[in-house]
Amino acid sequence: MNTPQAGILLPLPPLARYLAFNLEPGTDVAAGLAALQDIVDGERTVAGIGMAPLGALGRKIAGLKPFPPLSGPGVDIPSTPFALWLWLRGDDRGELLHRARHIETALAPAFTLADSWDAFKHDGGRDLSGYEDGTENPEGDAATAAAIAADGSSFVAVQRWTHNFSHFEAMQPEERDHCIGRRRSDNEELDDAPESAHVKRTAQESFTPEAFLVRRSMPWAEGRNAGLMFVAFGHSVDAFQAQMRRMLGLEDGIVDALFRFTRPVSGAYFWCPPMVGGKLALPA
Ligand code: HEM
Repeated sequence: MNTPQAGILLPLPPLARYLAFNLEPGTDVAAGLAALQDIVDGERTVAGIGMAPLGALGRKIAGLKPFPPLSGPGVDIPSTPFALWLWLRGDDRGELLHRARHIETALAPAFTLADSWDAFKHDGGRDLSGYEDGTENPEGDAATAAAIAADGSSFVAVQRWTHNFSHFEAMQPEERDHCIGRRRSDNEELDDAPESAHVKRTAQESFTPEAFLVRRSMPWAEGRNAGLMFVAFGHSVDAFQAQMRRMLGLEDGIVDALFRFTRPVSGAYFWCPPMVGGKLALPA
């Protein structure tokens, strides 16, 4: 029986490490994917596969498409595709480091590590801006309905956002609350927030069809740079794409106020295969 990768629907771990791999031309892709099957348990390590390895095997997954680079008034969002995306979930930074090293070795030579980011849970589940993240996430059966397709697979949108804390801290507290559309002190939704407020832009039931996502984002930090690794699972990429377009003002010219203090520096879609008998179920 197909089951979803369990990590998708579990609560956030205390720590994580994200790995993104490129496909090396002229290598044995099937062997690389077989190695991936041996590594991924779906719970501690969640995997997403990009278009390149599937294409190299002559396979197409309905619903998996390139992440579109989009532009709205004054804002661009990049598309940075990768062949594989892995979300290592854990609670010990050293263990995550060693797990990542073993995975890198096991996936060679077909896949080479291109990107690696450490992430963590902050203040019980807040973004580094201090706002609670995930409040309006669907839960239980609603989460399964939003994130998991009929065959147990899922699609994930991944965007690394870099925050500009000087811009954020230069704003008055009320202006910050109006950027998000919630009050930081008590997480109360603000009815009088402007239309640019993030939660007004992305209100899931305001889309046709409704655009529910299971967001599993975590703060990341490296050196002096930090932000949010935005990770959203859906039974297709459509809900994410509809929300991103509205955030960029492509529906009505109103750009999401989040862009005043943070920008995405990457963007990609991946297909997260289901598990069968404890193994990733890959197309034959
Ligand atoms: C740095 C980037 C982002 C930050 C800091 C951020 C932060 C937040 C916060 C604080 C909330 C309110 C609490 C909650 O319901 O979770 C929220 C809600 C939400 N965000 Fe984001 N977000 C970011 C990017 C995105 C992106 C890229 C999307 C989708 C394209 C998105 C979709 C949503 C949705 C669907 C909601 C719930 C809206 C509702 O139905 O009330 N967010 N976000």
